[in-house]
Amino acid sequence: MSAPLLLGIETSCDETSAAVLRGESELLGHVILSQDVHEVYGGVVPELAARAHLQRIDEVVAAALDQAGTRITDLDAIAVTSGPGLIGALLVGVSWAKAAAFALDRPLIAVHHMEAHLFGPALENPDAHPPFVALLVSGGHTLLLHASEWGRYQLLGETRDDAAGEAFDKVAKMLGLPYPGGPAIERAALEGKADHFNLPRPMVRGNQGPDDDDWFDFSFSGLKTAVATLVRTLDRAGTLDRERNHVAAAFQEAAVDVLAIKTMRAVDHTGCRRVLLGGGVSANRRLREEIAVRLGSDGDVLRASPRLSLDNGAMVARAGLFRLQRGDRAELDLSADASLPFPGLIRRRR
Ligand code: KG4
Ligand code: ZN
Repeated sequence: MSAPLLLGIETSCDETSAAVLRGESELLGHVILSQDVHEVYGGVVPELAARAHLQRIDEVVAAALDQAGTRITDLDAIAVTSGPGLIGALLVGVSWAKAAAFALDRPLIAVHHMEAHLFGPALENPDAHPPFVALLVSGGHTLLLHASEWGRYQLLGETRDDAAGEAFDKVAKMLGLPYPGGPAIERAALEGKADHFNLPRPMVRGNQGPDDDDWFDFSFSGLKTAVATLVRTLDRAGTLDRERNHVAAAFQEAAVDVLAIKTMRAVDHTGCRRVLLGGGVSANRRLREEIAVRLGSDGDVLRASPRLSLDNGAMVARAGLFRLQRGDRAELDLSADASLPFPGLIRRRR
């Protein structure tokens, strides 16, 4: 029997995406449509996201099938992100997938969006499998975990307030940079000096130890407030235009520093020197470099290309294959869940 052919559908936020995947890594068709309706608002407007998904999902799936040269009836299973994410947006993908699974009489697989991000690197790198320490950094989540095998994850740390990507987006907005903020900050930072301003490293203290509650956890709201205060001061002094790139660089440096410090604590704690970077923020070059430098030559950084780091249907299909092979099936009464718990995730006992 040939390897299963999966359709992966992703509509949890502002990318409408579909992928046709044969087996573990033969990506036959992949279409990612980034919604531009949110740009004028400087952030994702949930109702507009849902409507845009609804308008484009048929053609996005059709284009992915067309690219793959497959008919919809060739598919062996349909995988879809059922959470977490924006509820109206998720429902579009889930409804589409349920209808297709019912009409074709194929298994329906519900995929957790953040578990899908864990599978992103595996699409391009056959070595990107557990054990690894994973830093998952997106617009809605910041998770530090240890994966001993696929489906078994130990949560070490998470954000107590804003997600890392959210901080990039909000700081970009303060600086008058476009949405999404991450790539805009990264570009601006290339023209600025990171040490021009000194910004705080939240939840990193000199007297902190591995038994402390916040040893692995993150917080980005204090950093965001520090940037807001700095921006206000510069604005009043009339120097913001001149200093913008320096602020972007200093913010990026502070965020990357905290992410790298906590990741290395997880490496030391687990003794595992394989670090997987997933989620939109893992497209950040400075972050990738910093983790690689701190890990050194006896460590491995497992990551996807930027296209597969950001939201996409391919990672959903890949995570769906794992769930299919495990025998996990969703029923046709599947619903979207905006705060779906991460499957197989257990908390670290302190
Ligand atoms: O995983 P993702 O595409 O969507 C969610 O699941 O949220 O992540 C989107 C987030 C946004 O906050 C975006 O600003 C951030 O990833 N991002 C970046 C970069 N590219 C995207 N952050 C920093 N540097 C980047 N190059
Ligand atoms: Zn994502």
